[in-house]
Amino acid sequence: MDINHLSTPTLILDKARLQRNIDAMAERVKALGVDLRPHLKTTKSADVARLAVDGNFGGITVATMREAEYFLENGITDITYAVCIVPSKLDQALSLVDRGADLKLLTDNADVAGAIAGHGGLFKVLIEIDCGEHRTGVLPDSPELLEIAGILAAGEKTELAGVLTHAGHTYACRSKDEIIVVAEDERAAAVLAADRIREAGHPCPTVSTGSTPSVMFARNTDGVTEVRPGVYMLGDMFQVGIGTRSIDEVALTVLTSVIAHRRDDNQLYIDAGGLALSKDRATAAFKGDDDVGYGLVCDLKTTKPIAGLRVASVHQEHGLVTGDRPLPFDDLPVGSKVRIMPNHVCMTAAAYDSYNVIDGDGGFGEVTAVWGRCNGW
Ligand SMILES: Cc1ncc(COP(=O)(O)O)c(C=O)c1O
Repeated sequence: MDINHLSTPTLILDKARLQRNIDAMAERVKALGVDLRPHLKTTKSADVARLAVDGNFGGITVATMREAEYFLENGITDITYAVCIVPSKLDQALSLVDRGADLKLLTDNADVAGAIAGHGGLFKVLIEIDCGEHRTGVLPDSPELLEIAGILAAGEKTELAGVLTHAGHTYACRSKDEIIVVAEDERAAAVLAADRIREAGHPCPTVSTGSTPSVMFARNTDGVTEVRPGVYMLGDMFQVGIGTRSIDEVALTVLTSVIAHRRDDNQLYIDAGGLALSKDRATAAFKGDDDVGYGLVCDLKTTKPIAGLRVASVHQEHGLVTGDRPLPFDDLPVGSKVRIMPNHVCMTAAAYDSYNVIDGDGGFGEVTAVWGRCNGW
């Protein structure tokens, strides 16, 4: 089916762009000399995972137990659940292990480490390190790090698998040079934590780092064993703003219909509002044209931006499109379609159960496949 006939709003995934983004990251990571454990929390799709890892055999990262279940059901066994585990999820984790998952759990808490060690299940566990984002994780030079390591190492069936950190604060950077500095802080924190664990006499085989910006721009990965970028596969307008992707590399758009004109106000409405696009305003951090409101309005056939149009505000199911020039109302009659490049693709994609896949390379095309996603928890 040609995408012009799809019911809107819906997701269009440009497979040629996706594949190029995946290939480019694979090359980049190879040059860095580390393993790639892509984060699948953005795409949540087994079809995408198979392109991003080596068939079913590469390791992946997930952010929910639901994703871990789904990817295991789809034959991917090497899974790191990169959100701190709580004791109430250990039975579910063990059931994944019993079904063949090579599952790695994450903690930054001595009590949870004790619960894991005392559970009786065969668990591999990473300790989360705070490298400056100040979300979760222990500081690399803290006494808690060695306390948790000691508890996990003493667990009869528990394997201390290593350390994991995420430089989410790369997203506060506004230049490549700033990202290079944060990427080095990330590496240094993970390596310091690993060195301290080893000096205390414990194993620390995995040293895991990575956000898309830090992997793209890191200068040095000495001591790191794997990286976990994720959003690079699809890209979005925030990634364009911080320079990890260009507009013609953004692989995901929301197909939407023009539902109303307000010529006197130089506005039109589309059927993609806050639910279809998300209310993420990440690009508000940028000035001028790099702030695309709730999304950049692009041409149905070429995926090129249309005359500076952006989604200026959203209601639940309405998006208000405007621009700083007269809108091309005659080219966009009510019922015509446009494609929106989202601000933050992880949030936008989460509202949909599937992707309409085209081989477009930025262009127009037939839907060649429909790929499922796993949402929820
Ligand atoms: C723990 C962890 N690792 C890796 C990633 C992937 O980073 P990015 O979204 O920049 O690709 C994330 C993203 O939030 C994360 O939370």
